[in-house]
Amino acid sequence: MQSLYEEPKSAHVIVVANEKGGSGKSTISMHLIVALLNAGQTVVSIDLDARQGSLTRYVENRRRTKVKVPGSMLSLPEHFAVGRGEGQRIAEREAAEFGFFADVLEKVQRRSDFLVIDTPATDSYLMQLAHSMADTLISPMNDSYVDFDVLGRVDPVTGETVEIGQYGKLVREAARKRRLIDGRLTDWVVLRNRLTQFDSHNKRKIHASLKALTLQLGFRLHEGLSERVVFRELFPLGLTALDPLDEAMLGREPSFSHLAARHEIRALLADLRLPIDEKGKRRAEARETWARSHTEPLEQHDIFVN
Ligand SMILES: Nc1ncnc2c1ncn2[C@@H]1O[C@H](COP(=O)(O)OP(=O)(O)OP(=O)(O)O)[C@@H](O)[C@H]1O
Ligand SMILES: [Mg+2]
Repeated sequence: MQSLYEEPKSAHVIVVANEKGGSGKSTISMHLIVALLNAGQTVVSIDLDARQGSLTRYVENRRRTKVKVPGSMLSLPEHFAVGRGEGQRIAEREAAEFGFFADVLEKVQRRSDFLVIDTPATDSYLMQLAHSMADTLISPMNDSYVDFDVLGRVDPVTGETVEIGQYGKLVREAARKRRLIDGRLTDWVVLRNRLTQFDSHNKRKIHASLKALTLQLGFRLHEGLSERVVFRELFPLGLTALDPLDEAMLGREPSFSHLAARHEIRALLADLRLPIDEKGKRRAEARETWARSHTEPLEQHDIFVN
């Protein structure tokens, strides 16, 4: 079997994962993809949850909106959906899945700045593989002890960790393998999602419990994204809070909530400290200035600013 580690990767791999379903993985994947595209980076997105295919549909919806709204300037990633392997035996299925995934990686990892991989909520061979390749691992979690449980269990009185949860173990094991194979570290960020906008006892308790787990599991905490209807309503249009949301695109005026969501996503991006190259950023800024002015075509020197 061919190794995924034969050559150093050129793309920075972001994996969005958590064994807890419905924690916001696909929504956050799409926002990161658009954030990176807007920063002038080349992005390949991979949907490892092909059975559900939420990210794939998100990208398709975006493509449709781009066609429907001329001049919308919506950027799109190069997208792949990796299907579940077929076969009688587990080993056969795993080999087939590995084959799909390795083919996609071979095609894209040398020509893109970032790979963003959205994953299913179930433990599988592909999930483990993706975790062991992650340069940045983002695990969104809802503000509930039910979500917390997959990371670990903390004594409510002493705050001490009683047990590491199954997802915590999976990430630790993947990080260990990664160190053995290529010596690289994964930056693991647990992202609190769907936070209530008011201060509650539950919110504070979960914060304290997560803090108690950070050292043992080796993650950083990002707080976070609020519960906002905009994150739900943008999916059918393939849009994100980062897009230029006007009436033509949304069908109504953008609200304060859109701007607040955009602010939260930008804060997340800054906290992730991704290796976004400056040239790409300046190219994106030049493109945006040109799009706003709409007067003259983009000159060569506008594009390649050093
Ligand atoms: N911050 C948020 N505010 C409000 N709704 C949100 C937020 N984040 C995600 N959602 C909504 O929560 C639901 C689950 O989100 P999403 O599909 O992104 O999660 P997931 O982790 O990918 O789920 P699955 O495990 O099924 O793949 C969706 O309806 C989504 O629109
Ligand atoms: Mg999903």
